Order: sequence, then structure tokens, then C-alpha cells
Amino acid sequence: MNMETRRAKILIVDDTPANVTLLTDLLEINGYLTVQATSGHEALDQLRRATPDLVLLDVRMPEMSGYEVCTRIREQPDTALLPVIMITAFDPAQERIHGIEAGADDFLSQPINQQELLARVRSLLRVKTLHDAVKAHAGELAEWNKKLEIRLSQEAKLAEVARSLADITHEVKNLIMPVVTGTELLEAELKELFAKLPQHERENGQASQNMCKEITEMLNNASQRIQERVKEIGDCVKNLSTPPNFSSCQVTGVVESVLKTLRLVANEKRILLRTEGLGSLPPIRADERRLFNVFYNLLNNAIPEVPSGGSVTVKGSVEPDSKNIIFSVADTGRGMSSEVRESLFTNRVISRKHGGTGLGTRIVKDVVDAHGGWIKVESEEGKGTTFVFSLPFEQPRQDAINA
Ligand SMILES: Nc1ncnc2c1ncn2[C@@H]1O[C@H](COP(=O)(O)OP(=O)(O)OP(=O)(O)O)[C@@H](O)[C@H]1O
Ligand SMILES: [Mg+2]
Repeated sequence: MNMETRRAKILIVDDTPANVTLLTDLLEINGYLTVQATSGHEALDQLRRATPDLVLLDVRMPEMSGYEVCTRIREQPDTALLPVIMITAFDPAQERIHGIEAGADDFLSQPINQQELLARVRSLLRVKTLHDAVKAHAGELAEWNKKLEIRLSQEAKLAEVARSLADITHEVKNLIMPVVTGTELLEAELKELFAKLPQHERENGQASQNMCKEITEMLNNASQRIQERVKEIGDCVKNLSTPPNFSSCQVTGVVESVLKTLRLVANEKRILLRTEGLGSLPPIRADERRLFNVFYNLLNNAIPEVPSGGSVTVKGSVEPDSKNIIFSVADTGRGMSSEVRESLFTNRVISRKHGGTGLGTRIVKDVVDAHGGWIKVESEEGKGTTFVFSLPFEQPRQDAINA
């Protein structure tokens, strides 16, 4: 409740009881609440207990003078801005100087003019109301600021989580592919194997055949579900990526592990996966896991586009007089339309793939950018596609990236 809706409370401090009674009557008749003190110590005590809105303070009091009380009022943070009117009896000019030094807001000389007293009380209470409002707003503002800070830090954390999730999701989606293909191959292989068995052995092995069928079905179902769920997550966190973690890295090793993961799928389609010139490349500072993603995405994109008998070739060479290694992933596939080609590396990627998110090439570009390289694509429908990108030997320091 503020002072506009409640009665203001005034502390009257005077060692002469007759003066206290006079001021109490005058203020209460005019609608104010009052509390009284007849010494400086009592006044300080009332300030704590009654929390008045204004103090009428007699200057001349034994033990503790009005000046001293006023100085103490100003020293306390809670009462530093509390309006104080000093009541002076002798040599008003001299007492005012002391009063101003002690922090008084206004002065009244005895004998007191009642109208003047009421006018000054009203005026100082108006100022107090404004002070109180400013204080309340400052408190609210500080509270909002605190809430905003907490929200911003929560949002930053959330964005970081979302970025990591985008990355992991795409990786899981890619890595589940060999499981799907492997299961299909296993199913076909087992079927052929059981079909080749002589009649009597086939009958004996019926239970194993059923069990194998059940297992491959279970693998198929589970991996299909994982693909669906992961695609849902991918859709939620699209367009986000995490900052890289640089260390010394041999690209040839990274490409070999990508080829190992995809070889089964490629062999099944009779597609040759080859490398050229990677063994002689110097080590570079790179995020190895991200680099795996780059090659994995490019090869994984190429394989479904290449007809049986075709190939995908990963090449690497050091650019003469430069600090870059130039890589290319070239396939002999169907190529892509200019519409698809122009949409690559942008927010409006066109995905022609069943279950595709269009995140793959975006991630590739993000990683290459984060390593300070560039990427381009050349593609001709019916002839094939080549992704070419550069990676500098030296990468920016991790702390510079995170700054
Ligand atoms: N080597 C390529 N040959 C022909 N088309 C390609 C090749 N690489 C990419 N594309 C085309 O670019 C599209 C976008 O590729 P991107 O990797 O961004 O997404 P996606 O492969 O469709 O989905 P995801 O990466 O989530 O599996 C592909 O759908 C495909 O049409
Ligand atoms: Mg892809």
C-alpha cells in the first residue's frame, strides 16, 4: 500500500511534552498518523519500530541533539532519504547551517506557524511518495534484469544442446544405414544358404531358419524405427551445428574409416570406392570427427546416385604455393539438376532422397567454413558430380573460435 492510499505516519521528536501534544493534535486533526519520542535515543528506536514517512525534529534536546539524530538518520541506508523537518528556536540562520550539514530537508522556527507546518509536511510527503515509487521501480527493474539474465543463459545453453543434437542426429541417421543394408544382405544370404541345403537338412534346420528370420525382422523393424525417430529429431533441430575441436589429424586415416563403413553398401551395388594421393598428404589441424562427417556425407550422397559398375573417388593434393589442401569427391553418377545444385549449402536445400533431411551438405559446408576452407560443386546430369573443397594446414586456435 502506498502513501496515496494510506495515511502518512509522522514521528514527532521533542523533549518538551507540551510541544509534542500540540503537534500531535494538529497533525491528527489534519488526517495524519503520529508517533512520538521525547529524546534522541527514543527517536532512533521509533524509526526502526514505527517506520514513519516523515520526522519533525526538535534541534535542542539533552543527551542527543536534533543534529545528531538527523546525522544518524542519514547514515542508515533505510532512512537515508527520509524527509526530516527541523524545528529551530534560537538564531534560525545559524541553526539552519548546522541543520543542512546534518542533512535536514526543511526548517521551521518556533513559535510554529500551523499553516506553514502543514504546507511543508505536504510538500515533503509528495517528494517521499516519488522517492518510494522510484525505489519500487528500481527494485522491479533489478528483478527483471535478473530474470532476463537467467533466461539468456538458459537460451544459450539450450541452443548449444540443440546444435549438438543436430550433429549427433545426422551422424546416427547416417550410421544406421549400413545396419539396414547389412541386415538386408544377411537376410538374402541366409535365404540362399537355407535354400541350398539338401531336403532332410533343411527340415532339421527349420527351427534355425525361423529364428534367423525373426532376428533379421527384428533388426529391420528396430533400425526403421530408429531412422524415423532420428529424422523427427533432425527436423526439430535443423540449421544448427557445433563449434569444432581442432587437433593434428591424418586425413588418409579418416577417409579409410569412412570407406570401411560404406564399403559393404558400395560392394553390394558394385560401386568402386577409390582414393588418390591421400597417403602423401601432411597432417593438418582439424576436427577429426567433423572431417569424418564431411567425407561420410559426400560419399553417402554419391553412392545412391552411381549406377552399378561406377565409382566414387576421393582425391587430395597440396595446392602449389599455398597453405591449402584441395580435396575432391568425384562420382560417375546421375549428376544433379541445376535447381538442386543451386540449392546446395543454403537453407532451402532440395532433398531428392527418400527420408533425406537436406542436412548433409549443410553440415559439410559448416565444417569446411569452420576450418577456414571453401567448397564448390560441379555436376552434369548423366555424367557425374564432383565436390571440391579446401582445408588449410593451420586452423584458428580453439579459444579464438569460442571467443
Ligand atoms: N553426389 C551427388 N550426386 C547427385 N545428387 C547429389 C549428390 N550429392 C547430393 N545430391 C543431391 O543433393 C541433395 C541434398 O543432399 P544432402 O546431403 O544435403 O541431403 P540428403 O542427402 O537429401 O539428406 P540427408 O543428408 O539427410 O540424408 C540430395 O537429396 C541429392 O538430390
Ligand atoms: Mg545427404
